[in-house]
Amino acid sequence: MKNVLVIKSSILAANSQSNQLVDFFKSKISANITERDVGANPLPYYDLNAASGTRGEPQNDVQKQALALSNELIAQVNANDVLVFGVPMYNLGVPAQLKTYIDYLNRAGVTFRYTANGPEGLITGKKAVVILTHGGIYKDGPADLVKLYMQTVLNFIGITDIEFVYAEGIGHGPEAIAKAQAAAKVELERIAKII
Ligand SMILES: Cc1cc2nc3c(=O)[nH]c(=O)nc-3n(C[C@H](O)[C@H](O)[C@H](O)COP(=O)(O)O)c2cc1C
Repeated sequence: MKNVLVIKSSILAANSQSNQLVDFFKSKISANITERDVGANPLPYYDLNAASGTRGEPQNDVQKQALALSNELIAQVNANDVLVFGVPMYNLGVPAQLKTYIDYLNRAGVTFRYTANGPEGLITGKKAVVILTHGGIYKDGPADLVKLYMQTVLNFIGITDIEFVYAEGIGHGPEAIAKAQAAAKVELERIAKII
C-alpha cells in the first residue's frame, strides 16, 4: 500500500474548496494517509532564525528548533510515495502558509544540491498531485502562476511526476463552483486509479 502525504494550505477551513477536493481524493484512494494542514496549523514564519538554523550551524535554541522542524518536514516527505497538495490562489500566489512550508523544505545539500550542471533535486521517485483552486480562470494563460510556481519548485527538489487538477471560477457563484468541483472530481477519480 502506498504512503500518501496530504498537505492542505487553505485559510478557509470548512469553506475551503481545495480542502473539499483533497478530502474527496482521500476518500477515493486506498493508502496510508498522513495529513498536514498548514492553513489550520501554520508553521512558524521562516525568518532570520529559521534561515540561520537551516542554512548554517544553529547558534541558539530557536535556530535549533527551526532546524529540527525542517528535518522533520523533510523526513515526512521522504517517508511517503505520493504528495497531495491543496493549493488555493491567494493574491496570485500560493498561501503564505504553504510558502513557509516550502521554505523549510528546500535545503541545499539535503533536498537539492548545486552541481557543475546547475541545481539537482534530491527527492526522487515521488509522485505529486496538486489541486489548484482559483477564484477566476487562469489555466494555461499568463497568470497561471500557482501552477508554474508549484511545478518549478517541485521540479527543483526532484519531483517531476506531477498531476495538476484545477477547480476554477470559484468566485463566479454557486453554479460555477458546482461545475468546477464536478470537473475536478472527475480528474481526481482518474488519478486515484493510477497513483
Ligand atoms: C485572501 C484571498 C485572496 C484571493 N486572491 C485571488 C486571486 O488573486 N485570484 C483568484 O483567482 N482568486 C483569488 N481568491 C479566490 C480563491 O482563489 C478561491 O476562493 C479559492 O476557492 C481559494 O481556495 P480555498 O477555497 O481552498 O481556500 C482569493 C481568495 C482569498 C481568500
